Amino acid sequence: RQIFLNGTFVAEHEARVPVMDRGLLLGDAIYEVTAMLDGRMIDNDLHLARLQRSLSEVEIAMPMPLDQIAKMQVELVRRNAMRDGTIYMQVSRGVEERNFLPSAGLKPGFLAFTQPKKLDENPAQEHGVQVALYPDPRWDRRDIKTVMLLGQVRVKQQARLDGFDDVWMFEDGCVTEGASSSAFIVTQDGTIVTRPNSTAILPGCTRQSVMALATAHGMRVEEREIALEEISGVAEAFLTSASSLVQPVVRVGQDRIGDGVPGPVTRRLQHLYLDAAR
Ligand code: PDD
Repeated sequence: RQIFLNGTFVAEHEARVPVMDRGLLLGDAIYEVTAMLDGRMIDNDLHLARLQRSLSEVEIAMPMPLDQIAKMQVELVRRNAMRDGTIYMQVSRGVEERNFLPSAGLKPGFLAFTQPKKLDENPAQEHGVQVALYPDPRWDRRDIKTVMLLGQVRVKQQARLDGFDDVWMFEDGCVTEGASSSAFIVTQDGTIVTRPNSTAILPGCTRQSVMALATAHGMRVEEREIALEEISGVAEAFLTSASSLVQPVVRVGQDRIGDGVPGPVTRRLQHLYLDAAR
């Protein structure tokens, strides 16, 4: 595999990150994930815009101008001959002697790699997933896409122990989002509901794209909080992310959703999203 690292492409076994990298030692780094289907990047402009925003929120310098990052992605994909999968990018604040307080003006570290996978062809897309419902363990700036992911790693490990495929998290009696996805329900009258963007969740690119598609096709979309008590009565549930696309959810915690199979609104959104991507 060819890795992009600080301006050059190198073979994976030759790629080296310094031990004193702040991303490695302190989680002081930002990342993005873009999906590829059939040789096309999906929602990449949204991912690049969010990368820029996350970096600026934590005052890490842009490693290169956005248009050059986009060109790098194209070259990375070409070198790895990837048609389906994900492109991962990570920007660390930089390298210096370990210290919580960073020096000003560090040179950011920038890496990117590809992970080939047929995202639209797997059992979860077809049959849906069962998500556990756990308290949200994260900090108060979840709108920033940082590599500080230990909270999400822990809840996903717990979910596997408890016999679930994935996790939705909650706070103050309401769903925040998935451990690595945006959470949606569909009410009995067919309204698609998801939590409004705030510092409590990551503003999902797939979420934004799917909501726009739904609205454009005359479906009702409502941004409001999802109370835990209402989950047992919903018609459908699904989650969205770059790597999961639109993924049906057939169980949330102890509640089976609908008939326990993906519902018609979810199926329609899956098709609309894949059609728009191609
Ligand atoms: N995760 N919320 C969280 C906490 C996420 O980690 C993600 C994505 C999303 C969905 O965002 P988007 O639609 O822009 O991918 C929501 C990526 C896929 C990851 O960490 O691998």
